[in-house]
Amino acid sequence: MRYPSTIAALLAALFIGACATGHVHRADAGPVDCAVVKCVALTFDDGPSPYTDRLLRVLNDADARATFFLIGNKVAADPARAKRIADAGMEIGSHTWEHPNMTTIPAADVPAQFARANDAIASATGVTPRLWRPPGGLTDDAVNAQAAEFGLAAILWDVIPFDWINDADTAATRYMLMTQIKPGSVVLFHDTYSSTVDLVYQFLPVLKANGYHMVSVSELLGPRAAGSVYGSRDNGPPVNELHDIPAADIPALPATPSPPPMPNFPITDIAGANSGGPNNGA
Ligand code: NI
Repeated sequence: MRYPSTIAALLAALFIGACATGHVHRADAGPVDCAVVKCVALTFDDGPSPYTDRLLRVLNDADARATFFLIGNKVAADPARAKRIADAGMEIGSHTWEHPNMTTIPAADVPAQFARANDAIASATGVTPRLWRPPGGLTDDAVNAQAAEFGLAAILWDVIPFDWINDADTAATRYMLMTQIKPGSVVLFHDTYSSTVDLVYQFLPVLKANGYHMVSVSELLGPRAAGSVYGSRDNGPPVNELHDIPAADIPALPATPSPPPMPNFPITDIAGANSGGPNNGA
């Protein structure tokens, strides 16, 4: 049967309209009530990186929202990429200006770590962060008091699959996701690894098959008080809540370009938690 011409014209107009809205496909999963449905907040630290754009496509294709905790000096070096994260509908938080251990740098240097990151992120994206993630998950009362001055609430995590350690062994990271994610989990990833993007691409179908909605931290937790801290540096206990899906339902990895990671900047970093990866971006 044929559509009446008026309906066909309307559909054509809608189609053209959808195509004309621009090349950026936003994650418009719509509002969800995480008290009613299962939600998980995927978070990505240490970017933006050369892998971020592929991750944005992966997330948007799955109608998944996520939260990106950006390092200020990387944003300043690549503001356009940071803006694409915001344009894709993702939430943006601060991961400080240069990823130091905030609890051991001189107290006088703490405010600038917040201020410079906020300025770089706001300048690039138009969004002033309300959330921050302490580098290495390390913070204390004095640092939290400073964060409050900048209107920032700290977000740690419930699930830490060690994607930076398991870079070459995504099965190990996947095992931790399978055994630890539960409704309301905040999961820590890093979009500085091509392998992490691969893992997320192949794991989103598992989360969907388990009825999960992928939401931002703010969608999951609601407003957070400035200076507060959510979560912990530790893993939660295994819950084994997820069921796996048939291997045939997991998409094969396409041939993906693997540009080298952005070199790290000279920073006061945390041993073993280098924001440029174990080889410092080399
Ligand atoms: Ni980090």
